[in-house]
Amino acid sequence: MKKILILKLLQVFLLLIFCGRYTIAEKKTQEAKKTYIVHMDKFNMPESFNDDHLSWYDSSLKSVSDSAEMLYTYKHVAHGFSTRLTTQEAETLSKQQGILYVMPEVRYELHTTRTPEFLGLDKATTVLPASSHQQSQVVIGVLDTGVWPELKSLDDTGLGPVPSGWKGECEIGNNFNSSSCNRKLVGARFFAKGYEAALGPIDGKTESRSPRDDDGHGSHTLTTAGGSPVQGASLFGLASGTARGMAPQARVAAYKVCWLGGCFSSDIAAGIDKAIEDGVNVLSMSIGGTSMDYYRDIIAIGAFTATSHGILVSTSAGNGGPSPGSLSNVAPWITTVGAGTIDRDFPAYINLGNGKTYTGASLYSGKSLSDSPIPLVYAGNVSNSSVGYLCIPESLIPSKVAGKIVICERGGTPRVEKGLVVKKAGGLGMILTNSEEYGEELVADPHLLPAASLGQKSSEAVKSYAFSSPNPTATITFVGTQLRVQPSPVVAAFSSRGPNFLTPKILKPDLIAPGVNILAGWTGAVGPTGLTVDTRHVNFNIISGTSMSCPHISGLAAIVKGAHPEWSPAAIRSALMTTAYRTYKTGKTIEDIATGQPATPFDYGAGHVDPVAALDPGLVYDANVDDYLSFFCALNYTQFQIKLAARRDFTCDSRKNYRVEDFNYPSFAVPLETASGIGGGSNAPTSVQYKRILTNVGTGGTYKASVSSLSPSVKIVVEPETLSFTELYEKKSYTVTFTSPSMPSGTNSFAYLEWSDGNHKVVSPIAISWI
Ligand SMILES: *[C@@H]1O[C@H](CO)[C@@H](O)[C@H](O)[C@H]1NC(C)=O
Ligand SMILES: *[C@@H]1O[C@H](CO)[C@@H](O)[C@H](O)[C@H]1NC(C)=O
Ligand SMILES: *[C@@H]1O[C@H](CO)[C@@H](O)[C@H](O)[C@H]1NC(C)=O
Ligand SMILES: *[C@@H]1O[C@H](CO)[C@@H](O)[C@H](O)[C@H]1NC(C)=O
Repeated sequence: MKKILILKLLQVFLLLIFCGRYTIAEKKTQEAKKTYIVHMDKFNMPESFNDDHLSWYDSSLKSVSDSAEMLYTYKHVAHGFSTRLTTQEAETLSKQQGILYVMPEVRYELHTTRTPEFLGLDKATTVLPASSHQQSQVVIGVLDTGVWPELKSLDDTGLGPVPSGWKGECEIGNNFNSSSCNRKLVGARFFAKGYEAALGPIDGKTESRSPRDDDGHGSHTLTTAGGSPVQGASLFGLASGTARGMAPQARVAAYKVCWLGGCFSSDIAAGIDKAIEDGVNVLSMSIGGTSMDYYRDIIAIGAFTATSHGILVSTSAGNGGPSPGSLSNVAPWITTVGAGTIDRDFPAYINLGNGKTYTGASLYSGKSLSDSPIPLVYAGNVSNSSVGYLCIPESLIPSKVAGKIVICERGGTPRVEKGLVVKKAGGLGMILTNSEEYGEELVADPHLLPAASLGQKSSEAVKSYAFSSPNPTATITFVGTQLRVQPSPVVAAFSSRGPNFLTPKILKPDLIAPGVNILAGWTGAVGPTGLTVDTRHVNFNIISGTSMSCPHISGLAAIVKGAHPEWSPAAIRSALMTTAYRTYKTGKTIEDIATGQPATPFDYGAGHVDPVAALDPGLVYDANVDDYLSFFCALNYTQFQIKLAARRDFTCDSRKNYRVEDFNYPSFAVPLETASGIGGGSNAPTSVQYKRILTNVGTGGTYKASVSSLSPSVKIVVEPETLSFTELYEKKSYTVTFTSPSMPSGTNSFAYLEWSDGNHKVVSPIAISWI
């Protein structure tokens, strides 16, 4: 009886708590302010404001909120400002005259020695047509977590004065002053207003309210793109050699828009805005979010404005692979970069008690764990948690782990953190196993205890041994750095894949570049694992991701820009794409490490970058703002959507037949409808035609088309089959007709179109898919 009463009372009590919570929460959401980017319709600005944009913004804002202040005003990326508003205020504002769109803040994420030689860049110095003076006029802007200015990779010895047109600045802040910049790091700015509005003031103890990089990611991407050469670079002696950025003579500028708590769209927009104004030539953004329509994605919008200012924008494709359609940053004015491996490995041998040996990878810097066999356990068998096999924090039972090597599965939590979990539970070592998802991809990490990662096949073997042997044991031996690993490159499992769900007729990614186990500059604020317990300090770190492949392309684009200052961003991208390679020296197609099978254009786009060939492509597929506007018309964008995406008051010509098929892209994506009806559906061949325009950027001559198709059922006809060029920048158009009977939905077929004058090979990948 008493018990029941207590229970009843408890119920009432709980109800009270929850009701209370409910109302408080309710009230909070009503009052809570969020950040919005307010896009103003500058083509409909009331005359009464006399062209005073600021007072127009201010009066619009004041009409819905007395207290709201502008965080930023934007000039290039948007015509408008960002501010904090309640949902109600935002709604009221969006209905007002002159307001184009009130866009809620979105959070974006970072896409977390030997590369120059691997890319053949050591040869480029001899074939570079431009003087080094021209190369040093190029500025690469990097939107990221900032920069560690004391890095040797930012030494400016030998560089001439800062390019005369440069308007950037070295912003002063926490641990950062004007002498932090030099003739290499020509600018450094930070954008924290959106971040602080969302999460509160920055705590100077944990992160610098300045361009200083407390994370490492920004220093790594920046020095990859344009770092100066540093001799004797390595991580704990691994990957030792001369480290240098892709464009060692280019200047770099850091735009810190990402903080320990994330990257906010109002800050990103402000960063791009300033980078455009400062005069960068290349913009590198290893940042991405969920794919959304171009007119709602601030990276796509910002990149559009940047591109229209002649700035090449290079972004990471994302680390969502190997799932199909996992891409981000797919706008056709952006260069979208996937990741491959290089010819360098950090092997570790796992010896089992049954005498078998498996090769894995590790960046562990200490002694091998190989003096005597050590008991081996599977994390899933020594944990209380249902997901203990992932070695998530606090999940291992110390008494069952102490003195042993623990098998942990990859996924869910950071790989280096798993090692820390094992170490804290008293384990001596860790074997990190790949599931099918990661295939044979070996990502090496600077673990805090002896540890190595294994590919899927070896992982299965090691686990089945651990499950079946009564007393399983293992040892781990670290080998160090191994060069000229074959085959390389292979497409990284994590690299995001096509098809492009947003615009299926545009093939993405555009190309791949090195993104696995890349050595570049690091922050002095955290150790190489980025974990707070890691007190080691390094000038260089080895990390992986499309975040790392993106700045490779940014730097290489800077070299092409230096060699051909007059080329448009589209022409530079075309040069990088049509000269990329898709086979090894043996003639076999580049592999996808996730499957062990030949990769396809959905994995590598046009292929792996070949910077030396990119300097002399012969012909390019150029595109300008008018082409992008036609692209929007082909997508049936409304005038409103075009205003947002392109900041232009443009009306599509209703008499024109705009087609994405005719957008002048250096690759072809051909989605075909599957005939409806099982068996009974008509199997009459479908035929579609694409149009392209080539521009001569070489010496001219006669180019002949040839198509290599992997599927005999698809007929590909190029018309005309030869094109002759005499003048520089002369343009010639052609059409490609794809004819095919219906195939089962989900079928893909790939081909390559090559235009060659016997010397240059201008190659475009073709991806045909039945949907
Ligand atoms: C600027 O920073 C440098 C290097 O950290 C330091 O030597 C110098 O004293 C600083 N100058 C000022 C004005 O704070
Ligand atoms: C260890 O875990 C594996 C996989 O969950 C299971 O098959 C095996 O039976 C477990 N072994 C023991 C001794 O519990
Ligand atoms: C696991 O469960 C056992 C028995 O319930 C308990 O004694 C132990 O503290 C738990 N260990 C962890 C790490 O939660
Ligand atoms: C645009 O509209 C036209 C005409 O309604 C239609 O045929 C076409 O499929 C649409 N295009 C897209 C990309 O939706």
